[in-house]
Amino acid sequence: MLRVAVLISGRGSNLQALIDACRQPDFPAGIVRVIANRPTAGGLARAADAGIATTVIDHRDHAGRDAFDAALNKDLRAHGAELVCLAGFMRILTPGFVAAWRDRLINIHPSLLPSFKGLDAQRGALDAGVKIAGCTVHFVRAEMDSGPIIAQAAVPVLADDDEQSLAARILEQEHVLYPQALKLIARGRVRVEGDRAIVDGDAAGPAMRRR
Ligand code: GRF
Repeated sequence: MLRVAVLISGRGSNLQALIDACRQPDFPAGIVRVIANRPTAGGLARAADAGIATTVIDHRDHAGRDAFDAALNKDLRAHGAELVCLAGFMRILTPGFVAAWRDRLINIHPSLLPSFKGLDAQRGALDAGVKIAGCTVHFVRAEMDSGPIIAQAAVPVLADDDEQSLAARILEQEHVLYPQALKLIARGRVRVEGDRAIVDGDAAGPAMRRR
């Protein structure tokens, strides 16, 4: 079983999806720790409800990014984390931290990367008038929302969509995609070659989801 830590800042709906997946029999990963940088993160209660131990590392208690990331790293090591999943974690990590966890640190982002990096990805998709949006799970590199793409799911953008309706349609797919990506990694089916993640046995690629 792959030992996973999940980092959150907010409501934790993706955390919930990962918790639910890890509860399935034979799922090859388990969550050993949930860490939040905000004591008010709603996801902390989800972890507690699932009997998963939590740590709050409040970024306001640390002098800077290096000190915060050092505390984070220490907690992850202390609990034997082998893979770190960012799930709505709203802190930029230092290049040193990212390098220390290279190819063992993944993120989910609500766009089809490399389009619409950063905050307000759904707004960006609407403003650009794209007809297909989606979400991406990727290995984390120092530059925000970049790194080898492990999995993506696409959804249509409808003519009457607003940010909320599009975000909800994407989020539904995030909850499917993140556990799928985690399973692939935990089964050892994902390797990184240069800037790309290669998924064994996935030559045809995933089907586009319609909803
Ligand atoms: C999700 O849209 C995720 O893609 C983005 O932040 C949001 C987190 O939502 N990185 P939640 O906290 O998992 O509900």
